[in-house]
Amino acid sequence: MLIETNKMHNRNATMEVLEIRLQGEDSTNLREELVASLTRPASYRSIPSILLWDDRGQELFEDIMNCPQYYPFRAELALLSGYSSQMVTATGQSRLIIELGAGNCKKTLAYLTALEKRRIPTAYFAVDIAPDSLTNSLAQLSENMSSFQYVICHGMLGSYDDCVQLLEDNDAFGAEDVLFLWFGNSITNLPWKKATELINHLLCTKSRRTKLLLSVDGCRSEELILTAYDLPGGQSRQFIQNGLTHANAVLGDEVFDCADWDFEGSWDPVSAMHNSYHVAKRDLTIQVDGQTVPFTKGEKLHGIMSGKWDSEIVGRLCEAAGVTVERHWTRPVDNFGKSMTLVLMEMY
Ligand SMILES: C[S@@+](CC[C@H](N)C(=O)[O-])C[C@H]1O[C@@H](n2cnc3c(N)ncnc32)[C@H](O)[C@@H]1O
Repeated sequence: MLIETNKMHNRNATMEVLEIRLQGEDSTNLREELVASLTRPASYRSIPSILLWDDRGQELFEDIMNCPQYYPFRAELALLSGYSSQMVTATGQSRLIIELGAGNCKKTLAYLTALEKRRIPTAYFAVDIAPDSLTNSLAQLSENMSSFQYVICHGMLGSYDDCVQLLEDNDAFGAEDVLFLWFGNSITNLPWKKATELINHLLCTKSRRTKLLLSVDGCRSEELILTAYDLPGGQSRQFIQNGLTHANAVLGDEVFDCADWDFEGSWDPVSAMHNSYHVAKRDLTIQVDGQTVPFTKGEKLHGIMSGKWDSEIVGRLCEAAGVTVERHWTRPVDNFGKSMTLVLMEMY
């Protein structure tokens, strides 16, 4: 798939999007995962969070990022804008940069601009699972990078796992150095084991030098967190509710009536985790693959988690993944102490 833009003489005018999805478009695994998650015993049921990230979900998340109360976006953008030159120095001369879950790439532009200023020839790949959103993000990057001579952008349509597999199968396209970017605190949406395994698979390879520039949010203000994840304008609720609509599409049936489900966000300081839930407004049943699943009024269906990881948790993550922190950059959000930190990790 090629993305054509109307900019001539722009090295980024024609951006290639590689189709890397192993399962293709039918998302067979997604359906199986969804059915398994919905038919667990009560209080363990969930809509897998990956369902939030279809093209509609990306639009709704864009609305979230535009809200001033959604502090993670502002804090990370300020961090990248302020320190990208230092980060480029620290991350070295990788010719291949791969961004996991790139989203709208707005923050990435600051990093790529710093790279271009150093005249470092680089192939940048944005990896994401939402096809239209990826195309739009790359078209926007093309506009913003129309004068770039050294950094060339491409896309990879697929999941984190698809990307790991692609790099293994192709020996990372022969690159000796690979830098991974993973912004938006997205790692904390994954279960701990999955997150540590993914970092291990990406970084711990003998055949090339690898680094990861990872963002994590260490905010501990309950007030700030609860507002950011249940925005007064209802944007968070719409974003989470889109998971039910996407679930219907994956199941090929109107299994969920959105009018039956409310939203609830909760912050647990012990696990340093914010959780978003769908809550049944009444006693009801849903039909999933011939199985009747009952919900009592007030019962919760998990939507997504967002961890708030401080340096102690990041230390444990590194130990479990077999990597080490080379450097980090952080800054407070308003008066609430530490929030976004960008951590540069590499293999021991
Ligand atoms: C929290 S958003 C962050 C977006 C962007 N990196 C930022 O910082 O603004 C998470 C992004 O990861 C993508 N994503 C979620 N799960 C994914 C997966 N398993 N594989 C690839 N991309 C994924 C979503 O589509 C979304 O664009």
